[in-house]
Amino acid sequence: MTISSSFGLLVSALLAFVFVASAANFNRDIEVTWGDGRGKILDNGQLLTLSLDKSSGSGFQSKNEYLFGKIDINIKLVPGNSAGTVTTYYLRSQGSTWDEIDFEFLGNLTGDPYTVHTNVYCGGKGDREQQFHLWFDPTKDFHTYSLLWNPRRIIFSIDGTPIREFKNLESIGVPFPKSQPMRVYSTLWNADDWATRGGLIKTDWSKAPFTASYRNYKADDACVWSSGKSSCSSSSAWLSQELDTAGQQRLKWVQKNYMIYNYCADTKRFPQGLPKECTAS
Ligand SMILES: *[C@@H]1O[C@H](CO)[C@@H](O)[C@H](O)[C@H]1NC(C)=O
Repeated sequence: MTISSSFGLLVSALLAFVFVASAANFNRDIEVTWGDGRGKILDNGQLLTLSLDKSSGSGFQSKNEYLFGKIDINIKLVPGNSAGTVTTYYLRSQGSTWDEIDFEFLGNLTGDPYTVHTNVYCGGKGDREQQFHLWFDPTKDFHTYSLLWNPRRIIFSIDGTPIREFKNLESIGVPFPKSQPMRVYSTLWNADDWATRGGLIKTDWSKAPFTASYRNYKADDACVWSSGKSSCSSSSAWLSQELDTAGQQRLKWVQKNYMIYNYCADTKRFPQGLPKECTAS
């Protein structure tokens, strides 16, 4: 073997190592924390499944805590008759005045659409729900669900299409999560007491176990919180990222065609006036 070819091998071995080290791996990034074996990491860390049966659901959490981040995951939701099941995917901090950024996927009867429920909590207070139907069947394939959380805004996206933006409007007195580190959590559980048409449709346990699958957890662009300090990824464009014109148009398209509930339009719920972020221009 010549020197140059062994050098070439060394370089490609190093590149392969760098690639593997940065590639998504559930064994490295995630802990299954609930469900007594119903949550599984498979395929050398490339696949994670959560399942739900009559005795229990299951759940996982990220090993890291983050103070801001751009976090992506691919999810394939429970197929078939998933009515009564709820798959959650969210960021949350600790304690009684926690911050939280939520995706929740409410199952439905076969052929009826999932509801994607979103919320933002700050200091333990939420009440900022927006709900959507989807422009595709989320049970047929994996789709990318992303949370961008930087000091200026929170953007919820699906396959790169923004569905919701929550801006930092502290300047007009709206609280914004920015000082409590959060962990990523996901659970699959039974909520047939409320999820499907207010609890009218019950989970069909003859179809159990129900399974949701996950791939490609990616938190490369994030500030990891450890021993009271935050250390951010070297590329930091995401820290000031905002919606460009195309993104704003996509967001409008989703909100016009797929939004089924918006707290900002629920004047009955807020007889003293809508929350401030709803009327800020
Ligand atoms: C289920 O499907 C019905 C009928 O299309 C729809 O009204 C409802 O929002 C869907 N979602 C849930 C969670 O029931």
